[in-house]
Amino acid sequence: MTDKVKGMGISGSYGNESNNSKLVKLGLEVLSNLGAETYFWDLNEKPLPLVGEEGSWENKNVAEFQNLATEVNAYLLSSPEYHGCMSGVMKNQLDWIYNKHVGGKAFALMSTLGGQSNSNTLNQMRIAVRWIHGWAIPEQIAVPNIKEAFNDDGLLNDEKLIERLENTMKALFDAALMLKK
Ligand SMILES: Cc1cc2nc3c(=O)[nH]c(=O)nc-3n(C[C@H](O)[C@H](O)[C@H](O)COP(=O)(O)O)c2cc1C
Repeated sequence: MTDKVKGMGISGSYGNESNNSKLVKLGLEVLSNLGAETYFWDLNEKPLPLVGEEGSWENKNVAEFQNLATEVNAYLLSSPEYHGCMSGVMKNQLDWIYNKHVGGKAFALMSTLGGQSNSNTLNQMRIAVRWIHGWAIPEQIAVPNIKEAFNDDGLLNDEKLIERLENTMKALFDAALMLKK
């Protein structure tokens, strides 16, 4: 048991400049300002193989990913919507973590869309999180028209969205403390 919140950010798209990675990093910054220790899993630096790919069960990045997932007590997920679903990149990352790593711990969910807002990807991630025995908080964020969402400084244009991100991170922080694991 701990009174410290440790947050792990997982992006469903590659690259530090992808919109989902930027969104996760903004969220982690809010979490850090609340007093959490935060970690962003950088897939470019430490790619994860597909689950079941030859040699994947012994892959050292997978072991590190699972160890970090075990170490922390809050998870921030953000996935792009692809064909009405979470990205394969996000699903593969979720497929590498199980109850023994994340069970009983708090999750926050976000998604980005090229088009209009919907909850497809959020709902799919919520199901996957339930299957690994995580507790997904009710607050969630879908960012529509993602190409217009960020300004040149990498900040969100929409003030309501900034407020929603702050509220969601506060809810994640509180849930992590409440679940205390
Ligand atoms: C294969 C593919 C499928 C996509 N399908 C959808 C979709 O179903 N609905 C939608 O609004 N946007 C769709 N998009 C747009 C992505 O959601 C958008 O590019 C993404 O959220 C941007 O995030 P990123 O910069 O992190 O990749 C799709 C993009 C790709 C590449």
